[in-house]
Amino acid sequence: ATSAALCGLLIAQAAQPALASTGKHGKPGKPTYSAGAPSVGDPYFPDAGNGGYDVKHYDISFTYDPATRHMDATTTVTAVATQGLTTFDLDFRGPEISYLSVNGHRAEFQRSGQELVVTPRHKLAEGHRFTVVVKYAGTPPVVTDPDGSIEGWVPTDDGAFVPGEPQGAPAWFPGNDHPTDKATFTFHTTVPEGVTAVGNGRLLSQKTKKGWTTFLWNSTEPMATYLSTVTIGKFTVTESKTPEGLPIYTAVDPQLVTQSAGAVAQIPDIVDYFSSLFGPYPFNTAGAIIDRAPDVGYALESQTKPIFSSAPGVSTMAHELAHQWYGDSVSVTRWSDIWLNEGFATYAQWLYTEHNGGATADQTFNSASNYGRAATSSFWQVVATDPGPEDMFGNVPYNRGAMTLHALRGKIGDTAFFALLKQWATSHRYGNATTADFIAAAEKASGKDLTNFFDVWLFQKGKPATW
Ligand code: ARG
Ligand code: ZN
Repeated sequence: ATSAALCGLLIAQAAQPALASTGKHGKPGKPTYSAGAPSVGDPYFPDAGNGGYDVKHYDISFTYDPATRHMDATTTVTAVATQGLTTFDLDFRGPEISYLSVNGHRAEFQRSGQELVVTPRHKLAEGHRFTVVVKYAGTPPVVTDPDGSIEGWVPTDDGAFVPGEPQGAPAWFPGNDHPTDKATFTFHTTVPEGVTAVGNGRLLSQKTKKGWTTFLWNSTEPMATYLSTVTIGKFTVTESKTPEGLPIYTAVDPQLVTQSAGAVAQIPDIVDYFSSLFGPYPFNTAGAIIDRAPDVGYALESQTKPIFSSAPGVSTMAHELAHQWYGDSVSVTRWSDIWLNEGFATYAQWLYTEHNGGATADQTFNSASNYGRAATSSFWQVVATDPGPEDMFGNVPYNRGAMTLHALRGKIGDTAFFALLKQWATSHRYGNATTADFIAAAEKASGKDLTNFFDVWLFQKGKPATW
């Protein structure tokens, strides 16, 4: 409603030359138009994201046949121009495009790497909402990451496993692939009868016609593209509610039901415990997708539906659920700050293990895989705030990140520390934040100058000796 009103206002302004938009240098004059930037300038993924617009909503509609691995898709991107645009880029690595329109007019486009450069028939005015429709068909690609792991569209025996961090989303839909541009999503997915398609958010409908079932998933809270998924397969689906009424939807590969039962059963308790520590669970639904995707070999905190490529233990389940607060609701502004996701989720695992009667967080801090590592270990030679794209999901952002939080807790005391964790989740809810923001928040929560503390833990190499 706000944007419709905004659009109306700008149309009204355009009709009155006296109120014509101001140019780049602040002088009133003719609106200026130029090409949107092909990147947001994140050094870890120089092609990721684009400039000149802000996506509001993705409507992703496709049919997928696991037998042929063929996808037939129509994605509609609704965005607002943040500058006058002659052309703009979307990130897309998917199959061949048969049709592309902007505001209903067929538009020219060129593809090179993951850049889909669109030239709309009419220039797009700053502040205006526009709609891009892209039709494409074929087999979406598997994407290989700098650390050698795979993501994107990963076919399985009975469907597809779809993780997108940090750069997998453009495998299956065109968009603005950077965590700084969050949007709402709807997914309409049609699969052969008997197969389940599980997306983010809530299931609005499931209808079968002539041997095909269409699942409509709706994700109403802002979501980064890398957290989107529609994972497809033959699943055992269970729907329940937490005592507080939060719906839980789990989809588990039938072969993994027994092995993952323990972790699945703990979901309500984990959500409840983390809600007490971090503040209210940020989304209107929770759950998990547990599949067999041995070539992937990791789990991912896809929003409201973390995905697991094998049966998880309780601790991994806790990690992915903690990410719903730290990573999904509060997201990084740039990928080099990945410790803000992984360090927090790892520390949440330590806390849950203690809560569950296992090792205390202090014992985990001191263990051989953490502070117990020898000072000569190469582990201490990676800077936590700049692991590089190859090591962003390596031990350092996770374990040095979690150690940083535990050391901070010791430094500022439990009261300030736990207030900080809550405040961090609340004040950046559905937004983005940086390490500098966290340091400022920690100093504010504790009333202490923490420059030296964060310097040794986050910005320097070496095993911190004193802090
Ligand atoms: N964020 C995920 C987790 O820790 C890990 C993602 C790993 N992705 C990758 N491309 N290696 O839960
Ligand atoms: Zn993680």
